[in-house]
Amino acid sequence: MQCLLWLLSLWILCLLWPGCLGQLVRIPMQYQASFMASRRQHRAGRSSLLAKYNVVGGQDITSRNSGATETLDNRLNLEYAGPISIGSPGQPFNMLFDTGSANLWVPSAECSAKNRACQRHHRYNSSASSSYVPDGRRFAIAYGTGSLSGRLAQDTVSIGQLVVRNQTFGMAMHEPGSTFVDTNFAGIVGLGFRAIAEHRIAPLFESMCDQHLVDECVFSFYLKRNGSERMGGELLFGGVDKTKFVGSLTYVPLTHAGYWQFRLDGLEVGGTIISQNRQAIADTGTSLLAAPPREYLIINSLLGGLPTSNNEYLLNCSEIDKLPEIVFIIGGQRFGLQPTDYVMSVANDDGTTICLSAFTLMDAEFWILGDVFIGRYYTAFDAGHRQIGFAPAA
Ligand SMILES: *[C@@H]1O[C@H](CO)[C@@H](O)[C@H](O)[C@H]1NC(C)=O
Ligand SMILES: *[C@@H]1O[C@H](CO)[C@@H](O)[C@H](O)[C@H]1NC(C)=O
Ligand SMILES: *[C@@H]1O[C@H](CO)[C@@H](O)[C@H](O)[C@H]1NC(C)=O
Ligand SMILES: *[C@@H]1O[C@H](CO)[C@@H](O)[C@H](O)[C@H]1NC(C)=O
Repeated sequence: MQCLLWLLSLWILCLLWPGCLGQLVRIPMQYQASFMASRRQHRAGRSSLLAKYNVVGGQDITSRNSGATETLDNRLNLEYAGPISIGSPGQPFNMLFDTGSANLWVPSAECSAKNRACQRHHRYNSSASSSYVPDGRRFAIAYGTGSLSGRLAQDTVSIGQLVVRNQTFGMAMHEPGSTFVDTNFAGIVGLGFRAIAEHRIAPLFESMCDQHLVDECVFSFYLKRNGSERMGGELLFGGVDKTKFVGSLTYVPLTHAGYWQFRLDGLEVGGTIISQNRQAIADTGTSLLAAPPREYLIINSLLGGLPTSNNEYLLNCSEIDKLPEIVFIIGGQRFGLQPTDYVMSVANDDGTTICLSAFTLMDAEFWILGDVFIGRYYTAFDAGHRQIGFAPAA
């Protein structure tokens, strides 16, 4: 009897403590439908991706210093967003959850009235938060079109029912050009590792783990490729949701814990292996699949694509069902993409619909797997064990 009472009280205590019983915290993602509206956006999406990874020549990502450069030029990169709140009482923000960067920033209430991107979104007012702690340091993140800059602050960040204390983040006073004007999010939650963070600030997820808010130091993405604003998928903190994928997750170790970088065993197009032993990065902050030059050329010519002067490959929209499956081999398992996954229909400059290959050029020797891949394959980002896992999304 005493034992039972003891268990019961333990259970009640457990209910009151979010980290107990491996509780999972679900953050609904909003999907910006018809985001890939135009060819211009497709182009801008590509250039912003290149700027984000600071790609110059065949530079190696591992030898480069912290991720000082990242770009989001337009809605192309901003498909999935979800809510957080900062301060006491909480000030709400809609945020982009980006595994391809590692800083958290929101617009500041003190930004200039002339800065449209800032004025269009919710702004963090430090004077209205009793838990705000000034930091004093300046921060700047270089984007293709200019730099995002402001000051650092420390405050409480709430996400779902998780309350992260003493989180350092950026209050943006200046947001460059038109980059963030039309976005469905106010700021970015970088989910990469500290090694690529400005000022080496502990990223939000690292704080969450350090403060034992999650049982397992894992988050996972379930992205609906054909979602809606209200049902775009889910970001889960603290583990994985077995109902959202088929079979079991294939885990591979990270080759470098900065980006979510891992080894790609090989790539197969229509039954032929076209490359082996490459590095890849899982990036929820882009929709595209960026390939190294050699693979970019091989794949797109195997697809019968017509190259354009903008590094795009045009595909014949009426012949899409004849295109091959393209298989990524990761951890010895096959992860295939069908033409419906990798062909993007976009509105041409003259209003007609054209089909473009999602395989875009990365002038570097690594792959970026964006939402085209992560939407098809449920992805578990296991920071605790420095590994990443994939399984077909349900
Ligand atoms: C910030 O909050 C303070 C305190 O609530 C308020 O007086 C001030 O007007 C707010 N500033 C802005 C720019 O909204
Ligand atoms: C946050 O900072 C305060 C003041 O430095 C400290 O007392 C508190 O323990 C910290 N909380 C966490 C969860 O780190
Ligand atoms: C996506 O949604 C649209 C509108 O609901 C529908 O017409 C289309 O068939 C869906 N496509 C897929 C691949 O599910
Ligand atoms: C696209 O494919 C259709 C059907 O196979 C063919 O009739 C048409 O000529 C092709 N269009 C182009 C531009 O090659």
